Amino acid sequence: MTGTRMSPGQIAEMVYRAGAAPWDLGEPQPIICQLVALGAVKGNVLDPGCGTGWHAIEYARAGCSVTALDVAPTAVHRARTNARRAGVTVDFRQCDVTNLDAFEGHFDTVVDAKLYDNLDTAEDRLRYASALHRATRPGARLLMYGFGPGEVNGVHNHLLDEPDYETVLPAAGFAITYIGQTTYLLKGFERICAACPQQMPDGPVHIPMTEIHAIRLT
Ligand SMILES: C[S@@+](CC[C@H](N)C(=O)[O-])C[C@H]1O[C@@H](n2cnc3c(N)ncnc32)[C@H](O)[C@@H]1O
Repeated sequence: MTGTRMSPGQIAEMVYRAGAAPWDLGEPQPIICQLVALGAVKGNVLDPGCGTGWHAIEYARAGCSVTALDVAPTAVHRARTNARRAGVTVDFRQCDVTNLDAFEGHFDTVVDAKLYDNLDTAEDRLRYASALHRATRPGARLLMYGFGPGEVNGVHNHLLDEPDYETVLPAAGFAITYIGQTTYLLKGFERICAACPQQMPDGPVHIPMTEIHAIRLT
């Protein structure tokens, strides 16, 4: 065993291959369906860290032109299959979202569903947010969901870094218009610390998430 640390994308690839991604519900998250129903997802849409594509498919169904990126090849392969079965067109690409040079000024809406909180360091998060700034139009909306504090029925997040949304996003040229708490569904959750509930339900559990809305400044 060497001391080389695996990247979040490499870990995700292993989890996808094992068929054990707790965030892969086989359908979109309820909060994403809600966003779409409210008409908040419009125009040229970027889904960074798209996983197996359920959210990108939802945006395409709503009539958006969707680009969806993930660094894990198994995720992208499954996302293409899922979109084909759903009968929608999405531009899925396998790439690292910290470099979006190919999309200069292109996107009207970015919906980041648990990608930002996957990135290892504050430097990675700033590089990513700066790449989003370059890839979006002035006035574009960034809607973000990442690990949040607190608990839902005893379920809490582990290895939670200091939430740095409020320093990183303005530094990258986004004005935050809303920041609040919501939940995300994960399946196959196991008790991993003494503070976790003694008994986890068999079905999906809600975990605490932070929801951020921001506007891309010029
Ligand atoms: C927690 S999963 C969320 C997947 C999906 N957005 C969802 O909500 O179901 C995070 C995803 O980000 C991807 N990812 C991690 N680092 C990445 C990077 N640097 N570039 C692109 N994708 C990345 C992982 O492969 C994984 O699919």
